[in-house]
Amino acid sequence: MKALILSGGKGTRLRPLTYTGAKQLVPVANKPILWYGIEAIVAAGITDIGIIISPETGEEVKQKTGSGDRFGAEITYILQDKPAGLAHAVKTARPFLGDSPFIMYLGDNLIADDLNNFRDEFKNKQLDALVLLRSVSNPSAFGVAELDDQGNLIRLVEKPQNPPSNLALVGIYFFAQTIHQAIDAIQPSARGELEITDAIDMLITQQKRVQALQLQDWWLDTGKKNDLLEANRIILDTRLESLQTGVIDSRSQVIGRVAIGNNSQIINSTIRGPVVIGENCHIENAFIGPYTSIGNQVHLIDTDLEHSVVLEGARIIGVEQRIVDSVIGQRAKLELAPQRPKALRFMIGDDSQVELV
Ligand code: TTP
Repeated sequence: MKALILSGGKGTRLRPLTYTGAKQLVPVANKPILWYGIEAIVAAGITDIGIIISPETGEEVKQKTGSGDRFGAEITYILQDKPAGLAHAVKTARPFLGDSPFIMYLGDNLIADDLNNFRDEFKNKQLDALVLLRSVSNPSAFGVAELDDQGNLIRLVEKPQNPPSNLALVGIYFFAQTIHQAIDAIQPSARGELEITDAIDMLITQQKRVQALQLQDWWLDTGKKNDLLEANRIILDTRLESLQTGVIDSRSQVIGRVAIGNNSQIINSTIRGPVVIGENCHIENAFIGPYTSIGNQVHLIDTDLEHSVVLEGARIIGVEQRIVDSVIGQRAKLELAPQRPKALRFMIGDDSQVELV
């Protein structure tokens, strides 16, 4: 069995972070989202992995993720010239996939369940397609499944105004090679994309063996800022281990589960876990509260923050009010004057959000 991970697309919902980088490389607890998917796939015994990349962000994904050695996998990068839909990505990957069955995994999704049971169900029942579902409170934002009384899949609808159920399609699918004929038989949708939901509906119409299973545990689609903060919270809560290789001075307090990377200095500060701090950071006169991830080379001085994600190379200095629920981009600078500022001076990128509440 092979795997196809989709790491192309536009990432419009995570702008401005995605103007300069791939959304799948945005870190959750200091590790790119994409890598969680690769690890879950390898844990299910699948090591022949194709990754769909885009012309804009593909090089960065390739360079950061590498040949697959670090995961015990072999990775083939496949360029999709435009983000023309999930089924278009499968079509583009056809030479890599051949006639092999495969798992398709959207590179910005995170799940807690392991994939082994789903893989076994797909194999043992010799299915043409297995889709994973999760109940959500806002189904209109997702692909939604309609099931009959026995739990059989009747059809899938993309972002319906009147959802037939609250069961959203999780971005993880298992397919046999019959999906390729189904994709060949569909047309682009109203939004101009070749939709995987249309291809799966085609399989259902052709009375192929299509089944849906529900995830038991959490699922996060890290498309937007709050999803990213929630993914960060859950991963820190469930997977973070304390490991402190940085230098913590005697005036500092580190409470709970906290990881601190090499060459980071903690001076006269309080850190209340779960918190992860990367390498070469300078943290001074600061409070870092629960559910915060700080990337490498971050400077945090005279600052309080919690439930936030700070990316590599950012500097936050002298912000008196507590920073909460925030995502601070790479190399961003946030500095306040020591006295109450008489004026605020900004250089804020397109699509940025600043809330002075
Ligand atoms: P989406 O989140 O549906 O699309 P997107 O990345 O363009 O994001 P946004 O809505 O914020 O603009 O895509 C799901 C995943 O699939 C994501 O990891 C990107 C990837 N993808 C491709 O690789 N090729 C494609 O043609 C599309 C549509 C998505």
